[in-house]
Amino acid sequence: MTLPDVKVDSLCLSRELEQLASFSDAAPPAVTRVLFTEPDRQARLFLKKLLAEAELSIREDAVGNLFARWPGTEPALPAVGTGSHTDAIPFSGRYDGTVGVLGGLEAIRALKGTGWQPRRSIELLMFTSEEPTRFGLGCLGSRLLSGSLDADKAAQLKDGDGLTLEQVRRQAGCGGSLGDVRLPQRYYSAFVELHIEQGPLLERMQIAIGAVTAIAAPAALRVQLEGEGGHAGAVLMPERKDALCAAAEIILAVEAVAKSGGSADTVATTGVCRVHPGAINSIPSQVTLEIDVRDIDLKKRDQVVKKLSDAIQDASRRGVRLQVELLNADPPAQAGREVLGAIQTACQRLRLSCQPMVSRAYHDSLFMARLCPTGMIFIPCKDGISHRPDEYSSPEAIANGVRVLALTLAQLAEGAAR
Ligand code: GLV
Ligand code: MN
Ligand code: MN
Repeated sequence: MTLPDVKVDSLCLSRELEQLASFSDAAPPAVTRVLFTEPDRQARLFLKKLLAEAELSIREDAVGNLFARWPGTEPALPAVGTGSHTDAIPFSGRYDGTVGVLGGLEAIRALKGTGWQPRRSIELLMFTSEEPTRFGLGCLGSRLLSGSLDADKAAQLKDGDGLTLEQVRRQAGCGGSLGDVRLPQRYYSAFVELHIEQGPLLERMQIAIGAVTAIAAPAALRVQLEGEGGHAGAVLMPERKDALCAAAEIILAVEAVAKSGGSADTVATTGVCRVHPGAINSIPSQVTLEIDVRDIDLKKRDQVVKKLSDAIQDASRRGVRLQVELLNADPPAQAGREVLGAIQTACQRLRLSCQPMVSRAYHDSLFMARLCPTGMIFIPCKDGISHRPDEYSSPEAIANGVRVLALTLAQLAEGAAR
């Protein structure tokens, strides 16, 4: 198949990434953009303006997933999807997710610029809340799109202030019912996401593109500890039921279990520790921990979660009450053969080196893979750094990713009916 000769406007894309990064609750270079906060609202407005300028038809669903469609010459066929997220965890960088959204838009603009017309429609997606920051559950938008999360359960998820997703999405202006977010089967024939690697391998090997073969299996636990508060001067040590001391044991157990229990690919992190009442002269009475566990191997991941649950219960001998909630335990996803093949062909045409690799981070593609054949295009990022303000991917690396994405979309949009 002859593929269009795309020209990527790297300068324009860099400016758009910079502008998007300015919608943030943190001082630059850090980015904090949490679901349905003011920076998230501004980012959405900015994106909608760019999508309208590109003459794409825009639709927003009840959870705020944003769709922008370039109709194909056979618009009744299942479309080809691409996209990622624009929400950002506290004090992160400007490339995670955004490269797949603005880069996806640039790939469409570049394809349009050649005069080429897709047979299948091509649709760009901005997923709501890939990051778990606000509701403790990542990939909210794509979980709902793929039917992996029950709409009633989603509606009742609570944020740190006790507000439900149903309340905050309505306040944010998202109408309709969460039950209608789920996409029908055959809505997409294929999906492909462009993303920074968030690891060091491509840079180390001096490889331009990673073709993702599988996405690791994530799980998350929330532990609530309730001890007894009191005056830090007056309550003697033998009398104490300090919830934070019990939590400290759990945090160290998380590290120990991950180091010894699974495989070299097992990782576990306690990334949230909220202490109540949080005063130097008051014994901590309540603590909430959120623990992230991952492995490429589902069985090993589950063994680690089990061991962790036992280790957590152990802390109750300190006289604190424990409540453990499994927030999610998702299986890994495998890339679709046709998408992987299209990425590899695109790299060959562009004479870019390409390495098959596993994604240790999770992405909305983990859930899109339940709807249709799905793949991911990784580009190098400096020193493999991500989820930090100094996250960086060069304009050249991004432009390579966008060109590969454009040619991948072009092939998939011509693809046989599904
Ligand atoms: C995504 O942000 C992840 O935590 O893997
Ligand atoms: Mn992230
Ligand atoms: Mn991401």
